[in-house]
Amino acid sequence: MTAPAHTRSSADLIRAEEPVLAHNYHPLPVVVARAEGTWVEDVEGNRYLDMLAGYSALNFGHRHPGLIEAAHRQLDLLTLTSRAFHNDKLAEFAERLAALTGLDMVLPMNTGAEAVESAVKVARKWAYDVKGVPDGQATIVVAADNFHGRTTTIVSFSTDETARSGFGPFTPGFRVVPYNDLAALEEAVDDTTAAVLIEPIQGEAGVVIPDDGYLAGVRELTSRKGCLFIADEIQSGLGRTGRTLAVEHESVVPDMLLLGKALGGGIVPVSAVVAKREVLAVLRPGEHGSTFGGNPLAAAVGTAVVELLETGEFQHRAADLGVGLRDGLTELVGKGVVGFRARGLWAGVDIDPAVGTGREISERLMREGVLVKDTHGSTIRLAPPLTITAEELTGALAALEKVLK
Ligand SMILES: Cc1ncc(COP(=O)(O)O)c(C=O)c1O
Repeated sequence: MTAPAHTRSSADLIRAEEPVLAHNYHPLPVVVARAEGTWVEDVEGNRYLDMLAGYSALNFGHRHPGLIEAAHRQLDLLTLTSRAFHNDKLAEFAERLAALTGLDMVLPMNTGAEAVESAVKVARKWAYDVKGVPDGQATIVVAADNFHGRTTTIVSFSTDETARSGFGPFTPGFRVVPYNDLAALEEAVDDTTAAVLIEPIQGEAGVVIPDDGYLAGVRELTSRKGCLFIADEIQSGLGRTGRTLAVEHESVVPDMLLLGKALGGGIVPVSAVVAKREVLAVLRPGEHGSTFGGNPLAAAVGTAVVELLETGEFQHRAADLGVGLRDGLTELVGKGVVGFRARGLWAGVDIDPAVGTGREISERLMREGVLVKDTHGSTIRLAPPLTITAEELTGALAALEKVLK
């Protein structure tokens, strides 16, 4: 890669954002101008190994050639129809996504939050139409420390005060129980419960992995009590944990599966609710929709993503390289790392506060040419593209070891 012909420096561009961009993020001070595979390059031409991968939106790396080709091909044919008309790319996308996930029907949307909102609506409708819950009384049980997005309904059931505070009044109808606690779930689910909505691994919370048996327990409990199991795999899904879906680690099939991020190949926002037929069939024309959901460009890229996952190559890479990630992190415990949780190519690493905050470690890593993101003060998240090589991963772990000293 050669340096782009920018006329403004990184420092200039960061300064220029301040008065004109909402301050809802606190990015690391790096201004990315180009990227390829696992590497990004800033305005000055400095290269960085991307160990965040757009919070798993870039599972296949930056500008994966097959995905770029699919996008280019589609750009030359048709980009948007709205769902007022059919387009020739949507049927194949839905067929192959349903087959990949072992489910029946697809509701295409754009962002992750939209998929979650859609699932909340579908679950409520299912509760009234199929389960027979009295109108207006449906409840959805969620887990503490969840992250499902940023809309007003979704932050209504967040337990993170920074995400909620100042944004009420909130949407009613949600019950929060501790994560990884089947007894609490048993108590919270009753005749009004439409669904249990959880992340199979809590990403934003710091890659929190529940005990073995929890996901199978949620499946058993929801089936027994007659409510839906909604798995939000927007961050955990599509190869990240070494399987296509994180629920596969416990051989569980949810009633509704939420996908996003990597489904758009790092090119366009593509999300989906994928569900059993008897669940998604509750929606009738006019009851839900999105101008951009299922557009031909999204469907073409989404189909190309599914095609990559059908090979199993990325799931295997995540599982194999995940062993090296785990071994490398184990070596660092007691040397600036107080603990970590990892599955596949995904890890939450708790930094010893004596060594620095998560933010400080992220900034030091940036200066070493490695990009990560902190969460909850003292944790950093590692989620590289699944295309990363063993050598690159070793390099990232060596950089982490160095900045912890
Ligand atoms: C589990 C989960 N659900 C939903 C979302 C929201 O996705 P989006 O930012 O595309 O709205 C995220 C984003 O991080 C997520 O991790």
